[in-house]
Amino acid sequence: MTSAALSDPASAITIAHLEEPGLAAFAEALAQAVRTGGVIYLHGDLGAGKTTTARALIRSLIPDARVKSPTYSLIESYRMPALVIHHLDLYRIADPGELEWLGLDELQSEPSLVLVEWPERGGHSLPAADLVLHLGHAGSGRSVRLEAASEHGARQLASMGYR
Ligand SMILES: Nc1ncnc2c1ncn2[C@@H]1O[C@H](COP(=O)(O)OP(=O)(O)O)[C@@H](O)[C@H]1O
Ligand SMILES: [Mg+2]
Repeated sequence: MTSAALSDPASAITIAHLEEPGLAAFAEALAQAVRTGGVIYLHGDLGAGKTTTARALIRSLIPDARVKSPTYSLIESYRMPALVIHHLDLYRIADPGELEWLGLDELQSEPSLVLVEWPERGGHSLPAADLVLHLGHAGSGRSVRLEAASEHGARQLASMGYR
């Protein structure tokens, strides 16, 4: 697949309005699609639903997980039998150089699922995305756009069966 094909509408899912239960259901469908691992960037303003989505996704894969927002810790990790989930929130990062101590390049030294809130603050040290999720306010709910950013991500997105 060429990069042009990745911007094809077939490589994206757009939902204009989801209330919180709908967003959780979407996150659960996404969880099933990404359970083999990959990198997901979560974009959206404060309160757009990034942590809500990550929490529902993680709890879909690890039902008894206590999912804390990584706003202060920057990273929270969850071990599954076959992979590790890393949930990052880079909101408080002012300069990508502050991330060096996190060892971002080692996150993928074992099979992993990496969820990144505020990826635009991570600079070049972040692993490249397979899927990019954009969340926005839409009345009392949220809008969702999920885009594939790699062939792996495109296959995962297609497996969700949303059309
Ligand atoms: N689809 C939705 N519809 C309405 N409210 C939502 C929805 N998703 C999340 N919320 C609410 O919005 C608030 C902010 O969510 P959060 O996930 O912390 O945002 P972010 O991580 O993007 O800053 C929470 O109070 C949550 O309950
Ligand atoms: Mg958040």
